[in-house]
Amino acid sequence: MFPTERPRRLRRTSALRELVAETTLAPSDLVAPLFVGEARDHPVAITSLPGQMQHSLSSLHEEVRRLHSAGVAGIILFGVPLRKDELGSGAWDPDGVVQVALRSLRDEFGDELVVMADLCLDEYTSHGHCGIVRDNGTVDNDATLELYARAAIAQARAGAQVVAPSGMMDGQVAAIRSALDDEGFSDTIIMAYAAKFASALYGPFREAVDVEIANGGDRRGYQQDARNRREALREATLDVEEGADIVMVKPAMTYLDIVSDLRRELGVPLCAYHVSGEYAMVKAAGANGWIDETAVAMEQLIAVRRAGADFVLTYFARDIAEELGR
Ligand code: PBG
Repeated sequence: MFPTERPRRLRRTSALRELVAETTLAPSDLVAPLFVGEARDHPVAITSLPGQMQHSLSSLHEEVRRLHSAGVAGIILFGVPLRKDELGSGAWDPDGVVQVALRSLRDEFGDELVVMADLCLDEYTSHGHCGIVRDNGTVDNDATLELYARAAIAQARAGAQVVAPSGMMDGQVAAIRSALDDEGFSDTIIMAYAAKFASALYGPFREAVDVEIANGGDRRGYQQDARNRREALREATLDVEEGADIVMVKPAMTYLDIVSDLRRELGVPLCAYHVSGEYAMVKAAGANGWIDETAVAMEQLIAVRRAGADFVLTYFARDIAEELGR
């Protein structure tokens, strides 16, 4: 017996495969995470993220020019401050590292690409937590919201078109939305890290921003448990109800079921963050000649799009955008 159904007919030539492709991946689907160091005259390489830098202001501008000319949709900024304190005041200081960089980037790029700011305290706190730490070592949710509101206003004032709260405090989106609206920033977009899991894949990022959580602590008290799927939908639904314009799933590859659920259940734009550990694994295996780095990166980013994400935050943004443009 020979088969009558022959799906292979549609795979015979590259032109046919293009015609029937269900998923696309374009530079405009990519956002590049970038690190900027305070008062730096030179960029500093991040060992665990080969090819990524703690930028100086001028190398940051250069990098954004390259990303923009490769057609990348936007960037999201993380700051590496010179000084940290108990409350993380660098996060809302008008002269804090990210606020300075935002003003400078908006001066050069205006509305030509989307300029986003990660909104959290962990890069700025001496203890490395994403909020105010109580005497018993836990993070005080409601007291932290007030500080997120300050950071949101400082970032919006400095020119962030999108603020991206990543601390996983309950009520953070509502608190930030109302603070922004009160200050006249009703056009500032909130991209919520809605389903953010307590993941071991953030390791290289913590080196990138010099964050070490005090007393060997972790973020399991506020980030989600990897075992929970329904809870992710609950978190994201709450964020949309609170006014999130865009929701995010993070990390990407190990949470594609969550991406797929949120795509089906929610009407807002959806993205996923292909995080530092995901990048580092591909880079390391590629450097050893064990896999083809670019091909694997492309396959992973396509998988994220296929699962339902409108766009992807990825350290591969420039490489893949340039590859797609070839
Ligand atoms: C928190 C934050 C983290 C990442 C983005 N925002 C780290 C954390 O939650 O510990 C991780 C990103 C990555 O690993 O690429 N401000």
